[in-house]
Amino acid sequence: MRLTIREFQAMNSAARRFLQRTVEFPLFQRMGLNDKHCDILEIGCGSGYGAVLLSTLSPRSYTGIDLMPEQIVLAQKRQLPNAKFMVRDATDLSCFPQETNDIAVIFGILHHIPQWREVIQECYRVLHPAGKLFVEEPDENLMAGVNRLFPGTHPQEAFFTLRILEEHLKVTGFVILERRRTFGMGFYSTRKP
Ligand SMILES: C[S@@+](CC[C@H](N)C(=O)[O-])C[C@H]1O[C@@H](n2cnc3c(N)ncnc32)[C@H](O)[C@@H]1O
Repeated sequence: MRLTIREFQAMNSAARRFLQRTVEFPLFQRMGLNDKHCDILEIGCGSGYGAVLLSTLSPRSYTGIDLMPEQIVLAQKRQLPNAKFMVRDATDLSCFPQETNDIAVIFGILHHIPQWREVIQECYRVLHPAGKLFVEEPDENLMAGVNRLFPGTHPQEAFFTLRILEEHLKVTGFVILERRRTFGMGFYSTRKP
């Protein structure tokens, strides 16, 4: 779902970038997001700050997709090397042939998508065997608070517990290599067999 203006502003604030730079990305790195020269796909890339952080891995290619054209315009302004940004719905990644990416990254977007399970399935399809998916999402309780702060962009179907998220990762075929919980957020490092 598209963000409201208020959530769009919060997601593109200095505070959000600080959190992503000092907590989320370093945690993913400690969980194994440190392979260099890979083909990386970021789902729900927003205005491209995740791409800035991921560019420190010198990817062979980086593709960021997001539903909101406004986000993609901001991301494209960053002019990162080997980076491409596209307006796409994460539930349909048919523009990517199967098994074409080494790494997929999700910085907290599934809770905006009623068909979030399809996004995980699409990530599985586009990853190479042994490809990695890194995903962070809020637990249901944290979501309730976030939804009070930013109502209207979190569909009821996407109020899942981390246990349900984890089950779906496994049902899809991902092997969970590591899981962490911080401030009500779940972080997963997973691999396609
Ligand atoms: C909470 S923001 C997170 C943005 C960025 N990943 C970050 O961590 O700052 C959620 C993002 O997901 C995008 N989004 C929502 N539904 C989507 C969908 N179906 N397909 C692709 N992107 C989607 C929104 O446009 C928004 O940019």
